[in-house]
Amino acid sequence: MRISLDRMAAALDAVRVGILALDGEGRVEFQNSETSRILGLSSGTSTGRSLTKLLGDTHPAVSLVGEVLKSGREKAQNACMLPSQTEERPLWVDMIASPAVDGGRGCVLTLHDRTIGQELEALVAQRTSDRLFQHLAAGIAHEIRNPLSGISGAAQLLQQRLSEPALRRYPDLIAEEIDRIRRLLDDLAQLTWGREDERRMVNLHQVLDHILELQMSASGDERPHIVREYDPSLPELWVDRDRMTQVFLNLVRNAVHAAGPEGRVTVRTRIEALFQIAAEDGTRHRMVRIDVEDSGPGISEEDLPHIFTPFFTTKPDGTGLGLAIAQHWVVRHGGRIHAARGHAGGARMRVLLPVGRGT
Ligand SMILES: Nc1ncnc2c1ncn2[C@@H]1O[C@H](COP(=O)(O)OP(=O)(O)OP(=O)(O)O)[C@@H](O)[C@H]1O
Ligand SMILES: [Mg+2]
Repeated sequence: MRISLDRMAAALDAVRVGILALDGEGRVEFQNSETSRILGLSSGTSTGRSLTKLLGDTHPAVSLVGEVLKSGREKAQNACMLPSQTEERPLWVDMIASPAVDGGRGCVLTLHDRTIGQELEALVAQRTSDRLFQHLAAGIAHEIRNPLSGISGAAQLLQQRLSEPALRRYPDLIAEEIDRIRRLLDDLAQLTWGREDERRMVNLHQVLDHILELQMSASGDERPHIVREYDPSLPELWVDRDRMTQVFLNLVRNAVHAAGPEGRVTVRTRIEALFQIAAEDGTRHRMVRIDVEDSGPGISEEDLPHIFTPFFTTKPDGTGLGLAIAQHWVVRHGGRIHAARGHAGGARMRVLLPVGRGT
């Protein structure tokens, strides 16, 4: 049985692999829908045109095809970063270019989009570190609370027995420090045995405004310039309002600290163009994206892998729990958080949260 060319083209359009056929001069003969999506080329405009003209001569697909047309030998390139046509985030694509099988001089390029797989891996890594953190936090809190009660009791006893006033300030000092440790343990305990989430539909812009107002009143005139770039079409989210306040308060505090009084902090929201994996079962959701970007010195390559680790801090008075707590709640809400370099060279913390009640 012979199938028609139309049926064949429809079948290739249904395949989740990009297929692009080129003639010996590198001109497009055929492309399926997945190729159009990955390379951002519509088949109407590209057929008969040179791939180099369409994508530019520095595009990785153009270089790969060029090599195969010259050598006549198959060549592959894995995990290649291609600019995405629909959003800022790049795509991760495996490419194979093979010489035409019919002895002609053309070549066929196949494109396999690995972006979702990469995101899933990153998500699993975040969830694993979140569980590790909960475990660690519970262990530490438990181990410290017991001896603390003993120390506290001894300090009280000392306070009662010491007659010399000059010496009595030492037990006071001990009591103050114990209080500080107890507050820290309370923070940790919140993450491990805290109350159930109380989720409802929340307007995130109101949460962000509230945080920015708090921050402005707390730092008076000595604060960076704050810019809000809100997407007015942002939907309400199914989240725990207090937890979200904790998340963004930590990010804004870090940004304000990094930017300093002369700097600038930008809070930007938008709805992501693409669907992302959000739920543990791999369901895909629409996501909203919230960026907190500052004009500070940025995060060094060396520190970047550690900033979400509990107790990692480069500040003399920091506890290093801010980002660990933020990550914990974002992940619990089915979201993602990551750090990158912002446009101005400072840090850009990006939070993705799912739309709807999927998680
Ligand atoms: N906007 C930023 N710019 C530069 N470095 C940052 C930024 N945000 C976080 N960091 C780095 O990540 C580290 C960890 O941040 P995190 O908020 O977890 O703890 P912290 O701010 O040090 O202490 P705290 O527990 O008081 O928040 C910081 O010490 C800093 O080195
Ligand atoms: Mg912090």
